[in-house]
Amino acid sequence: MSHQTTNKCSFFDIETYGDDFKYLQGFGSTFSSESLEGALPVGQNCPQKCPYGLYAEQISGTAFTAPRVRNQRTWFYRIRPSVVHYPFHPHRQKENSVRKVVSEFGSEYATPQQLRWLPTQVPKEEEIDFVDGLTTMAGAGNAAHKSGFAIHMYHANKSMNKRAFCSADGDFLIVPQSGKLHIQTECGWLSVRPKEICVVPRGIRFSVQLKECDSASGYIAELFEGHFTLPDLGPIGANGLANPRDFCYPTACYEDVDDIEYEVIQKYQGKLFCANTDHSVFDVVAWHGNYAPYKYNLTLFNTINSVSFDHIDPCIFTVITAQSNDPGVAVLDFVIFPPRHSVQENTFRPPYFHRNTMNEFMGLIEGKYEAKQTGFLPGGASLHNCMSPHGPDRDTFEKASNAELVAEKVAGGSLAFMFESTYMINPTEWAMTQAPLDKEYHQAWVPLEKHFSKDRK
Ligand SMILES: [Fe+2]
Repeated sequence: MSHQTTNKCSFFDIETYGDDFKYLQGFGSTFSSESLEGALPVGQNCPQKCPYGLYAEQISGTAFTAPRVRNQRTWFYRIRPSVVHYPFHPHRQKENSVRKVVSEFGSEYATPQQLRWLPTQVPKEEEIDFVDGLTTMAGAGNAAHKSGFAIHMYHANKSMNKRAFCSADGDFLIVPQSGKLHIQTECGWLSVRPKEICVVPRGIRFSVQLKECDSASGYIAELFEGHFTLPDLGPIGANGLANPRDFCYPTACYEDVDDIEYEVIQKYQGKLFCANTDHSVFDVVAWHGNYAPYKYNLTLFNTINSVSFDHIDPCIFTVITAQSNDPGVAVLDFVIFPPRHSVQENTFRPPYFHRNTMNEFMGLIEGKYEAKQTGFLPGGASLHNCMSPHGPDRDTFEKASNAELVAEKVAGGSLAFMFESTYMINPTEWAMTQAPLDKEYHQAWVPLEKHFSKDRK
């Protein structure tokens, strides 16, 4: 699949972009985009001299020799190559900040205890942008070995402005919970708001601007291992769940801005480094390839569910997945629990009690989660690790066990999600000592009553 577009925009004036950036559609497609006509070389990647005096630069998201079906790379045609910067030096998030990014997850705080956190608020007493407001809650594996992932929270009350960020450690799956973001990337702009997600692949530089809001917060899964794909549909057929055409990629849009103070902050093995430039690094005039950031509107998810009896396993709600080499086993699934109709007969309809070899980190974007009447709040989180039992709380159980089973809309006004992994997910020191841990979470289940009686059927 191939696309071509021309998109003109003005420099450094994000107000002019509005919500309506032009997008290219189609998950994983190979795109071509140029913001000056004729900026893309014809028939080759690296001519002796590129059109308009641009530099050619390739970014590879997979090994050169990865199988064609998985091979990802993009060619940029830019005003300066990305190597034009002053030396990297360590970057500290705000002085005395308790926030910290981590890319290696030991077992110091590992626990089989079910964990739940109340929302963390955007600080009012200090100005923080997306980078300085990053903090790691949990994760698995090790970025240096390209194994596992990290789960971060972000909080921001100002735009990054003349500051770009990228992670050499992994792909950023950003799940906004509050605040609309305009995300400038080397491939162009994305507008992302709550109930949308975006993925910025490893190494792609981006800058997060707050749009029509004073603050923003949300969740991030940073995938150290592989890239996200769409799940196989099996007997569902050729359509359903997240449809490929609804994934939107940016169109080329460049800034030709010199003689400014600009920062590039790069996350590398869990540490932040900063390099200064005297020009905007968003100077890509044209690009082509299949390694690019994208966004997806979660309300476009084509939800599939049981129309006869029993509760279907939550994998039916998988939006995107990163697969391990073990067939059907995910390094990381991104799963949502969207508003939908519930019609099953003779069924306990909410999620069932269970223990799982997989590990489950949940967040809530808005509303009330269907399996918890109280305590799980938008911006909060829960963690149920390998074989730690969990399920509906006592009130949900009693209510659903006695409900009249008429057709009804469930999860209306609500959107919960889950990062699910085969890897055991370890919370960080911040999550266990600084974040608002709910010490009474076990009370969701301890009051469950004994209903058993030999005389009862
Ligand atoms: Fe679960």
